[in-house]
Amino acid sequence: MNSKKLKILLSLFALNSVSLYLYFSSHPDHHRHNQSPVYHYSNNLPLSVKPWPILPSYLPWSQNPNVPFRSCEAYFGNGFTQRVDPLKPISETNRKLGAGGGAGWFRCFYSETLRSSICEGGRIRMVPERILMSKGGENLESVIGRGEDEELPNFEAGAFEIEVNDRSRNGKRLVDEKFLNNYVQEGAIDRHTMRGLVDSIRLADATEFTCSEWIEEPTLLVTRYEYANMFHTVTDWYSAYVASRVTGLPNRPHLVFVDGHCETQLEETWRALFSSLNYAKNFSGPVCFRHAILSPLGYETALFKGLTESINCHGASAHDLWQNPDDRKTARLSEFGEMIRAAFDLPLDRHHIPKPISGHNVLFVRREDYLAHPRHGGKVQSRLSNEQQVFDSVKNWASKHLDCKLNIINGLFAHMSMKEQVRAIQDASVIIGAHGAGLTHIVSATPGTVILEIISSEYRRPHFELIAGWKGLEYHPIYLSGSYADPHVVLDKLKSITRSLGC
Ligand SMILES: *[C@@H]1O[C@H](CO)[C@@H](O)[C@H](O)[C@H]1NC(C)=O
Repeated sequence: MNSKKLKILLSLFALNSVSLYLYFSSHPDHHRHNQSPVYHYSNNLPLSVKPWPILPSYLPWSQNPNVPFRSCEAYFGNGFTQRVDPLKPISETNRKLGAGGGAGWFRCFYSETLRSSICEGGRIRMVPERILMSKGGENLESVIGRGEDEELPNFEAGAFEIEVNDRSRNGKRLVDEKFLNNYVQEGAIDRHTMRGLVDSIRLADATEFTCSEWIEEPTLLVTRYEYANMFHTVTDWYSAYVASRVTGLPNRPHLVFVDGHCETQLEETWRALFSSLNYAKNFSGPVCFRHAILSPLGYETALFKGLTESINCHGASAHDLWQNPDDRKTARLSEFGEMIRAAFDLPLDRHHIPKPISGHNVLFVRREDYLAHPRHGGKVQSRLSNEQQVFDSVKNWASKHLDCKLNIINGLFAHMSMKEQVRAIQDASVIIGAHGAGLTHIVSATPGTVILEIISSEYRRPHFELIAGWKGLEYHPIYLSGSYADPHVVLDKLKSITRSLGC
């Protein structure tokens, strides 16, 4: 091992130690594992908890109050600099003076740039029967026709409670309207479920704080929208990842869906990313969290906000950014893409990724009809009316192209597991596809991958051009006047791309 690598390794180790120290010193609850017989806080990592993988593009998530407003780090990394403490933990001194028990706490980190908060708290009780919604996690076929309204949570007062050692505050609200308007803003969302959740939190005196089960390790609470759509789900994954990092979790958290959506294929990735997954309504009684983190809605991530506000950020390597910080550059989406690949145990170091013996993979992401959710007709909208013809002509051309070997991969994603999809993205040198949520997978593409998007006149939206730019990937659009693509036009574009790859 050369000395440079050793230095990097040592600094990663130091960083890890520092963040572990910060985690334990900043989370008041971990000082007190000697109190009540009900709580068994163990220092050994339970088998059910997954450690964070080592990500080549990782940069520290530490709190830096000087992160500039609307800088790339504020949009994609830790811009959650404004801390508010609606419920402070009781201090060490008070506890020594005899004020035992009831040390619940709650605080939020607000980002001016995203107008969004990541909140967390300790000794939080969830009462499933006070959350009105369908059970969630059902088989899709069993709930055909169920309304979206039924699947979104309605929180009654006290759906969530925090333990306090003060009878006079029993039943009081944790936060008022003004707090919500400042820190958990509705924005353009009609029914802001995370705001509803925070609004439902009541204080509960220690004597009334009974739990059928304690969850000792950090748990992320997520409310999903558009849970069957790949683009929106990636915004949810991103938000969950950022929330875990901003709160400095030492390992990957457990996950609880506080919604009543049925099961989808995308759950495979949720389960791979986090330590475990359960649905709020699937607990048999009140469940208490030693430490819960509230994941902001996917709509509040830069991935979604970039559709309506200009986020001028270009993808760069973490190594370059570490040496030359730049407010207009980010490696965060690459870090996140690596997280997804690591979750599926795919190799991360790009020098060790086995590329095809010779030549390049050209992945054609196909749009197929499939039943996405209970209100779906089973047909995807056609955005490329002659997709099969374009695919055939690309395949035909590649088979005669002798300068180098081109493997045309038929990306029938609806027939592939999530892991297979991510692997196909990772192995591709060129990714072609009609505008559609499946292209959001390019967050996991490796550096140097070229994106060719075919865009019909009806769906001229910038989702994937933006993601490609934020990741620093070369991007080429083909704009159609309708939804028909001339195969020659696609081939010409592809030929110039493969030439630039040395073919
Ligand atoms: C519901 O909980 C049980 C056990 O607690 C678990 O085995 C099952 O997977 C859960 N169901 C869902 C849909 O998460």
